[in-house]
Amino acid sequence: MTDTMIEATEVSKTFGDVTALDGVSVTVPRGTVLGLLGHNGAGKTTLVNVLTTMLPPTSGTATVAGFDVVSQGNEVRGRIGLTGQFASVDEQLSGFDNLVLIARLLGASRGEARARADELLDLFDLTDAAKRPARTYSGGMRRRLDLAASLVGRPDVIFLDEPTTGLDPASRIGLWEIVEALVDDGTTVLLTTQYLEEADRLADSIAVMSAGKVVASGTAAELKAQVGKRAVHVTLASQQDAPAAIVSLEKHGLAPVLDAPKAELRTPVASSADLAVVVRALDEVKVEVAQLAITEPSLDDVYLTLAKNKAA
Ligand SMILES: Nc1ncnc2c1ncn2[C@@H]1O[C@H](COP(=O)(O)OP(=O)(O)OP(=O)(O)O)[C@@H](O)[C@H]1O
Ligand SMILES: [Mg+2]
Repeated sequence: MTDTMIEATEVSKTFGDVTALDGVSVTVPRGTVLGLLGHNGAGKTTLVNVLTTMLPPTSGTATVAGFDVVSQGNEVRGRIGLTGQFASVDEQLSGFDNLVLIARLLGASRGEARARADELLDLFDLTDAAKRPARTYSGGMRRRLDLAASLVGRPDVIFLDEPTTGLDPASRIGLWEIVEALVDDGTTVLLTTQYLEEADRLADSIAVMSAGKVVASGTAAELKAQVGKRAVHVTLASQQDAPAAIVSLEKHGLAPVLDAPKAELRTPVASSADLAVVVRALDEVKVEVAQLAITEPSLDDVYLTLAKNKAA
């Protein structure tokens, strides 16, 4: 038994003159979730394809559940579940028949296969549609069936490539809950996503990819601390007070930025204790405040900063 369930070491992958992966290293401990974030074309799907043995790396090595993805592909495939960015269920078969077929291919008896199919259809709220051909499913139902299909064999490691793209908010939250339950049971998950909120909620650690490289990694909190800043947002009762407010805040060593249409001053601060400084500075010049809020850095700040740094 190994405790590192996914390990990529300096993995590169080129397609002709396109470098899709450029020396990517990631480590995912058992029972944890790694969130891979990145723009279109960053290399997320390519990394998933290498780790799930669908594509050989051009250089570098990778293991899943302790097995080498190139030389021990069968062992790897026997321990993983994959939900691709593009659904892979058989359109002509019903949801039930799709799941039974997979269970039978994995060696379950007819009875076991049917029981597993029923259990998963129930988990994914597809029981009512179980007997209909998958081609009649909505996009969200298909995504759920696809995820159910990847869980038939109770894999130790699951790869979810943009699992909630195209799902409505309720289905997305339902899927998050299922992933959380799997992780509680010890399953290891690598998921790619464009949704920062999803990474923030599910991922124990996050790797941000850009142009085939990991440009930042850590917990959501670590990434936020790296680039994000706390800020005090002040909405002025009257926009005409803005110049006086700015002068006074600057006198107190702060650097406010005015969002004129909203009559809002955004002032980055080091700690929440600086809230008092902001209030005092405004009070000194008798500026009336309509609304006051302190915001914490979000993963969006992290992402936008990294994307901006790259473009600069
Ligand atoms: N089979 C292929 N042949 C040529 N180029 C490819 C191939 N597969 C991927 N690429 C290129 O590799 C790069 C990374 O693609 P990849 O699909 O891994 O990105 P991604 O991060 O999953 O993007 P998205 O968010 O759009 O799914 C892109 O430039 C893509 O065009
Ligand atoms: Mg992709």
